[in-house]
Amino acid sequence: MYKVNDNYLKLPGSYLFSTIGKKVKAYAAAHPDRKIIRLGIGDVTQPLAPAIIKALHGAVDEMGDAATFRGYAPDLGYEFLRNAIADNDYRARGCDISADEIFISDGAKCDSGNIQEIFSTDNRIAVCDPVYPVYVDTNVMAGRTGTYDPQKETWSNVIYMPCTRENDFVPELPKETPDIIYLCFPNNPTGSAITGRQLQEWVDYANRVGAVIIYDAAYEAYISQENIPHSIYECQGAKTCAIELRSFSKNAGFTGVRLGFTVIPRELKAGEVSLHSLWARRHGTKYNGAPYIVQRAGEAVYSEEGKAQLRQQVAYYMKNAAYIYHGLKDAGYEVSGGVNAPYIWLRAPRGMSSWEFFDYLLEKANVVGTPGSGFGPSGETYFRLTAFGSYENTVEAVERIKAL
Ligand code: MLT
Repeated sequence: MYKVNDNYLKLPGSYLFSTIGKKVKAYAAAHPDRKIIRLGIGDVTQPLAPAIIKALHGAVDEMGDAATFRGYAPDLGYEFLRNAIADNDYRARGCDISADEIFISDGAKCDSGNIQEIFSTDNRIAVCDPVYPVYVDTNVMAGRTGTYDPQKETWSNVIYMPCTRENDFVPELPKETPDIIYLCFPNNPTGSAITGRQLQEWVDYANRVGAVIIYDAAYEAYISQENIPHSIYECQGAKTCAIELRSFSKNAGFTGVRLGFTVIPRELKAGEVSLHSLWARRHGTKYNGAPYIVQRAGEAVYSEEGKAQLRQQVAYYMKNAAYIYHGLKDAGYEVSGGVNAPYIWLRAPRGMSSWEFFDYLLEKANVVGTPGSGFGPSGETYFRLTAFGSYENTVEAVERIKAL
């Protein structure tokens, strides 16, 4: 008789956003007359920018012509896209990252879930608390996290780094020494940012203790303040301790198009073993690359036209972020985030738990958000709203919440 991977059986409940989706669907079915405003999952709502649409059309036409048709993409992605990324995201910021250190994929969620495969199951991970659930859940699936304590909602073999109001939602260096450190800045879910000096401390720490940092920079396009690094490679020494994950979902609206990349510097080694070679081996074996037409769309993100259009798109969402932030603050809520990130993190009022507030908002205001406790125990009593709705819906949602 075959056996299943029983690590999966240890996972509590379903994926956070699936649980929310089911609850909202049930509510909508029971109340078909209500207009529900969804500010829960961080999914974009604005259409793709014209420069991207143009590139997609052009690439589709190429695929219909024998002379320009493309089959399998190169394992690590097309040179045209990897060069555009190296030039614009890295060299333009003074980071010495070359095209051959960039691995194109179909999105940062897969990469953030898959990257743990190249590490031993004996490694101990450290995560921020609250945290994007994918990092923890995929380590559970791999059998790296020990046993689950349903009371505390923690895993015995995971180091949790609380991110609270007291530390401005930026973790302190852990007391126990981890092997793998997950950091996401600008942060999902809290919307907080890390300064260059703070991130440098993490890089120095990782190099000192021999840990690897998996740095998720999916939200870097939302940085509005000067002293906030867009890449971990802006820090000295990061190339010997850090992997960076990037996405086209939030900066260019590719949540339904799918494109992302992972950077693994050549210098990053566990003893003599290059992590770049391991990830290249995995990519070559398990993956056939993001579609050509999507990689051409990604290239258009870096065209002058594309950059200008996407700056406007990001500004559109950040106007929403400011509206939510100020609207709720004026209404007496404790709010943070929303300045360098498209997420607003607020405290549930009147001592409500995160899920109580979720139900309350859904029922009384027909607004969907994400309960902070879904991201980890330190998220309890907090709540996340996204700035990715339309402006009209965002205004309406804030006005409904204010009227409660
Ligand atoms: C979120 O809402 O946290 C994100 O949309 C999840 C994701 O990007 O996968």
